[in-house]
Amino acid sequence: MRSSLPVLQLAALVCAFLAPGPAFGAPEEHNVLDGLQCRCLPSQPCWPSSASWSKFNQTVGGRLISTYPVARECHGSFYDKTRCEDIKKGYFFDHWRQLQPGPVQHVNWETLGGKGCLGFNQTQPCDQGNVPLLTVNVSSVADIQATVSFASKHNLRLVIKNTGHDFLGRSTAANSLSLWTYFRKRIATTDNFIPEGAPKETKGEHAVVLESGALWKDVYLAVHQAGRIAVGGADPTVGAGGGFCSGGGHGVLSPMHGLCVDNVLQFTVVTADGQLRVANAYQNQDLFWALRGGGAGTFGVLVETVLRTHPALEQIHYAFALITSPDPTKIDMIASDFWARQVALGKAGFSGYCFVDSNLIMLQYYLLNAPFAQAQAGVRPWLDYARSLSNVTVMNDTITTYPDYYTLFRMAMPGPGEGNPNAGGNLIIASRLIPADLLESKEKSEEVSLTLSGISSSIKASLPAAIAHTPGPNGQYLMHLMAGGQVAAAAQQGHADKTSLLPAWRKALIHVVVTASWEDRTPLSQQRRIQRTLTTAMDRLRKLTPGSGAYTNEADPEEPRWQNAFWGKNYPRLRAIKRKYDPKGLFVCRLCVGSDDWSDDLNCPRRR
Ligand SMILES: Cc1cc2nc3c(=O)[nH]c(=O)nc-3n(C[C@H](O)[C@H](O)[C@H](O)COP(=O)(O)OP(=O)(O)OC[C@H]3O[C@@H](n4cnc5c(N)ncnc54)[C@H](O)[C@@H]3O)c2cc1C
Ligand SMILES: *[C@@H]1O[C@H](CO)[C@@H](O)[C@H](O)[C@H]1NC(C)=O
Ligand SMILES: *[C@@H]1O[C@H](CO)[C@@H](O)[C@H](O)[C@H]1NC(C)=O
Ligand SMILES: *[C@@H]1O[C@H](CO)[C@@H](O)[C@H](O)[C@H]1NC(C)=O
Ligand SMILES: *[C@@H]1O[C@H](CO)[C@@H](O)[C@H](O)[C@H]1NC(C)=O
Ligand SMILES: *[C@@H]1O[C@H](CO)[C@@H](O)[C@H](O)[C@H]1NC(C)=O
Repeated sequence: MRSSLPVLQLAALVCAFLAPGPAFGAPEEHNVLDGLQCRCLPSQPCWPSSASWSKFNQTVGGRLISTYPVARECHGSFYDKTRCEDIKKGYFFDHWRQLQPGPVQHVNWETLGGKGCLGFNQTQPCDQGNVPLLTVNVSSVADIQATVSFASKHNLRLVIKNTGHDFLGRSTAANSLSLWTYFRKRIATTDNFIPEGAPKETKGEHAVVLESGALWKDVYLAVHQAGRIAVGGADPTVGAGGGFCSGGGHGVLSPMHGLCVDNVLQFTVVTADGQLRVANAYQNQDLFWALRGGGAGTFGVLVETVLRTHPALEQIHYAFALITSPDPTKIDMIASDFWARQVALGKAGFSGYCFVDSNLIMLQYYLLNAPFAQAQAGVRPWLDYARSLSNVTVMNDTITTYPDYYTLFRMAMPGPGEGNPNAGGNLIIASRLIPADLLESKEKSEEVSLTLSGISSSIKASLPAAIAHTPGPNGQYLMHLMAGGQVAAAAQQGHADKTSLLPAWRKALIHVVVTASWEDRTPLSQQRRIQRTLTTAMDRLRKLTPGSGAYTNEADPEEPRWQNAFWGKNYPRLRAIKRKYDPKGLFVCRLCVGSDDWSDDLNCPRRR
């Protein structure tokens, strides 16, 4: 059986774009950026001359690329039959999109104010939209430093792009210069990593050292070959050294070994002043703390990440099931029952994903290094309950045992040229971390479940009729049993303070993601309505989980009071560190630390 994980399916639907809207809460403090100017735009005299661009291009070894929407040759006067046929073949695949400077994975971020260049309709115009104007396909550290310095000197809008998976559109921007890290892919494992500047007696650790363009599929293979495992995500084409870890980074191994941030031993980063800095427990500790949870695209350009690795698993059980019913109330009953079992499943060591739609539930749960009978005992009673209800079908329920993590990962994940289309659509999501103690109560578990079911219904009602009831990310939600265990233990052991990760992660058991999407041709006004519906519907869940928050990497791009939702009590310190290392705000991104000093389009410092 080959099934892609639900996270992939979330990205799989074809649909068009995001309303910029009022993105930021009013900054609660004075503006420290007084005296700074708005970013230099191409229409202005401050824009570098062609001689200046040309000189810069030489500095970066000719790696400067004029950048356009990826489907340009399918449109209007740019139309080129042969090129367009090639574009059509790759357009809906993550692997192909990643190889180009222009696109990101979710096309809603490539448009601006309803204008863009999506799909293949030749009569539709091709507008640059939210696509950068120029890209540096960086190869060396010197390329990165030169790009940072050039952007800083000319006051350009700079974006950092790796794979373009960002759910908040943080890896693309209109009128920007894009620093593209994707092709820096070196990965090396070691049994004896000692952080730079560590005292002499420091013992070496098993680790993997990766450049910022390394993908999880390649990192997993490298650590597997070294007989180890590393905490990464479910998707093969997400980057391991870009946004993933600095935002948190959850995966099937998290209850056993913590989040990705808990496993970072060292970051190497180019800061806004163009300097290369090594941050770890012994030097630049404030930067190290900030980069472990404070989010990417904010404190500098990550050049290299060192992650702790762990011994290979003895075995891994994978429980899969599909439950369907034409009757949504039956699905509600089964989902509520499942929510009430999460505390027990978490204590038993399970992790995994469960995808819930109005007529369908898909289970993908994992149990590591435990007897097979324990895996059965965990999921059987729930499946039996589902089977006992009339008008319900339980299908394909299997528990498969794999000898190691990599074999499982390869089975569940399509590679390049395999699998279903999984990118190139319009997708927005919202996140909430559900505290473990809430789920101790059967009544509260049921309330969480029914609240999510209500949120899904509201979202579906706002969607274009053509997609509201087709399979895909259309109001479905996805449970991630990814916290508890070592994620929670980090707090008890006093390790949590070593990261700037949202403290609510340590009390959570489940991270839940709700999805919405639209079609390329959906009118902008309706797109905005869908976005508003998602944001306001989630208030019901926010109310049910006071003091908790959301996962910054899989969040609502309009998350209210995001500073608190993403970072809680850590926000003020993060902002101070941001100001120390990037006083002029070179690195700005949507809902990122310190970006509340900037206008909604992030091009002008906010004036008081
Ligand atoms: C299909 C899919 C599956 C996912 N699965 C998981 C999962 O299992 N677990 C999980 O925790 N998350 C998951 N995510 C979310 C993922 O963690 C984020 O999208 C993450 O930000 C992606 O990082 P990237 O570098 O690959 O993407 P990009 O979009 O290229 O970058 C993301 C952010 O990081 C910044 N950035 C990139 N490279 C650098 C760099 N070198 N230095 C500084 N900043 C940089 C960008 O500017 C941007 O702000 C998934 C996302 C998708 C779309
Ligand atoms: C940069 O230089 C290379 C090599 O000379 C050239 O191919 C490329 O077109 C230049 N980029 C721009 C934007 O002019
Ligand atoms: C292409 O776009 C035109 C103009 O918006 C529209 O009338 C036509 O229906 C579109 N064609 C397809 C195949 O979608
Ligand atoms: C970017 O550079 C890499 C080598 O570092 C090269 O393989 C790749 O083709 C380049 N991509 C583009 C679009 O220029
Ligand atoms: C199953 O559910 C559907 C939808 O609610 C309903 O129309 C149908 O009558 C039910 N069938 C049975 C056998 O209960
Ligand atoms: C479920 O099982 C059926 C019949 O055995 C099979 O055809 C189908 O592909 C399976 N679906 C999934 C998602 O595994």
